[in-house]
Amino acid sequence: MPDTPAITIRRATPADVPALSRLLQALVAARKRTARTDEAFVLSHYVANPDGISCFVAEESGGALLGLQSMKRTAEGNSYGTPAGWGFIGTHVSPNAARRGVGSGLFRATLEAAQAAGVPAIEAYIGAGNSEGQAYYEALGFRTWRAPEGSVCKRFDLPA
Ligand SMILES: CC(C)(COP(=O)(O)OP(=O)(O)OC[C@H]1O[C@@H](n2cnc3c(N)ncnc32)[C@H](O)[C@@H]1OP(=O)(O)O)[C@@H](O)C(=O)NCCC(=O)NCCS
Repeated sequence: MPDTPAITIRRATPADVPALSRLLQALVAARKRTARTDEAFVLSHYVANPDGISCFVAEESGGALLGLQSMKRTAEGNSYGTPAGWGFIGTHVSPNAARRGVGSGLFRATLEAAQAAGVPAIEAYIGAGNSEGQAYYEALGFRTWRAPEGSVCKRFDLPA
């Protein structure tokens, strides 16, 4: 078996946006995503979201980006129905790098950021048909607590 190249988890920067846009396009091609992938969206929603708490990328030793995990603080009356002041998480791992621990590595960094930001809980809003997304968050310790039409919402409670 070939060696697994070292993977570094670091904060995303605006210079990562083109590569992250391509990563999201690959997820669309693999039928794992339907939302926007353009660079303006990646910048405003993930890398430089004004409500953002953290946005981490996983980078292979050669410089390729394998994954992205963002977390923003939810506002009062947000459209997801998530309680205000929680972390709201999104995870996107390249289809070529699935099941190599990239998502788990990203969450170790995000959890630290959530603790530092003092959020009481993190919510993941997952499509009802997305069994791998549900299994991933469940493996990290998230648990289902509500199920809006077509979705499953899992929460991770941080110690007070
Ligand atoms: C879901 C996703 C983030 C998982 O990322 P990943 O880097 O493959 O996850 P990891 O390798 O860290 O897996 C951690 C654990 O999650 C669970 N898991 C991950 N993918 C799984 C799958 N396809 N089927 C079942 N369990 C899975 C397993 O328990 C796994 O541990 P194991 O490999 O030791 O059994 C990735 O597949 C992805 O980006 N999918 C498309 C976008 C998406 O669905 N995002 C999340 C919901 S919005």
